[in-house]
Amino acid sequence: MGSSSVPLAGFKGLRSDLLVALRKEQPLTAKELGTRFGLTANAFRRHLKELGDAGLVRFRREVRGVGGPVYAYSLAEFVKVAKTNELVPDQARLVEVKGKQIALFNVDGQFFALENTCTHKGGPLAEGDISGHEVTCPWHGATFDVRTGDVVGPPAQRAVACYGVRVAGADIEVEV
Ligand code: FES
Repeated sequence: MGSSSVPLAGFKGLRSDLLVALRKEQPLTAKELGTRFGLTANAFRRHLKELGDAGLVRFRREVRGVGGPVYAYSLAEFVKVAKTNELVPDQARLVEVKGKQIALFNVDGQFFALENTCTHKGGPLAEGDISGHEVTCPWHGATFDVRTGDVVGPPAQRAVACYGVRVAGADIEVEV
């Protein structure tokens, strides 16, 4: 089964112990997925049923070093962090979820969440300027794509963690 695993580097925002990332052409059964999470097939199915869509998230995302889209199954949960009307377009704010500092962005009415701490020297991305889908670190000007956490411009070298976001009614929820 090990051969179907892929590195989790592209999913830094998600807890690796709650995540299985797979090449899309190598789907696993509930039993196999359950095993990855340390659960029996039945316990895994029960768990998914309880969590519903909130718990099982399918990502299609390019993962560097893997070459191609993968599916990631995450059992992380969505946590309410703000109301949609608390964040106007092109604005960011800092929220704290489960001890993590997260910068929440509104770009044209769409919400995105990144780790707040710049990977260069720790600047607060929630205080950065937003232009299109890019945020500029207020300390030395590194730019990141709010959709992926990827570095767009130096001096930062490494991506910041990127978290799943969804809107439920008037609430913004972040996946942690
Ligand atoms: S701390 Fe962000 S660019 Fe230096």
